[in-house]
Amino acid sequence: MIHIDVFPYPPPVLPCAGKTVVVIDVLRASSTIVTALANGCRAIIPVEDAEAAQAMKTRYPDALLCGERDGLKIRGFDLGNSPFEYESAKIAGKELILTTTNGTHAARLADDAGAVLVASFLNFQAMIEHLKSVEGEIIILCAGNDRQFSLEDALCGGLLAGHLYNEAENCRLTDAAEWARHAANSLLGKAHPLSVEVIYPLLHQSEHGRKLFELHFENDIRHCARLNVFAQVPLLKQGKFII
Ligand code: MLT
Repeated sequence: MIHIDVFPYPPPVLPCAGKTVVVIDVLRASSTIVTALANGCRAIIPVEDAEAAQAMKTRYPDALLCGERDGLKIRGFDLGNSPFEYESAKIAGKELILTTTNGTHAARLADDAGAVLVASFLNFQAMIEHLKSVEGEIIILCAGNDRQFSLEDALCGGLLAGHLYNEAENCRLTDAAEWARHAANSLLGKAHPLSVEVIYPLLHQSEHGRKLFELHFENDIRHCARLNVFAQVPLLKQGKFII
C-alpha cells in the first residue's frame, strides 16, 4: 500500500522519519539538480546557506561552489542556479556544493527521512515509475517561495500525486494530496495531454516565473517546463544527491 501526502509549502518541521520525501522546486533548484546529474556531475551536496557552503568546501576542496540568492549567482561562487550553466564540459565527474533560497532548504528539512528524492517536470514519469516500487508513506514536499506557496511547485506536486494515484496499485491520498490533485487538474483545465506547451505558460505567469523573466532567465523557465527529458531520479545518499 502507498500513502501519499502533499505539503504545498515547507512546514517549520517536517514529520518524515522513515518516510520517502520527494522534493519539488521546479523554478529552478530541482530542475538544475536533475539536469546537472544527467550531464555527468558526480554528486550534489545540498546546504542551507553560503556560510555552510564555504564550510563544506573545506571538506571537499575540489568541489564547485554553486547557488543563488534573489535568483543571481552568489558572489565568489563558481556557478549560479541556471540549468544552462551545468554543462558537461564544466561539471562532468565533479562534486557540487549547492545552496538555493528554497530548494536546498526543503531538502535539508527532510534529513530524518528514510529516502529523499528530487522531482521536476524534466524527470516526471521517471519519478512515477520509481515511486510505484516504493512501499509505505510518501511525502511530496513543495519547496515554495520564501516558505510560502508557489504555483509551479504545487502544480508539479499535485500532478505527481494524481498520476501516481492513477497508475499505482493500492494507493491512498491524504486530503491535502487529494486537494492538490484536483487543484492541479483544474489549473490545466482541458489542456491535456501534459506537455511543455501546456506547462510553460503556467510557469511563466507564476510569481517566481515573472521574477526570473525580469532577470532575463526566460530560457530557464522554458527548460524547466520540458516534460520527461531525463530518466534519472536523484537520491540523497550520505548527504549527497547521486543517480
Ligand atoms: C530556489 O531554490 O529558491 C530557486 O531554485 C531559486 C532560483 O533558482 O531562482
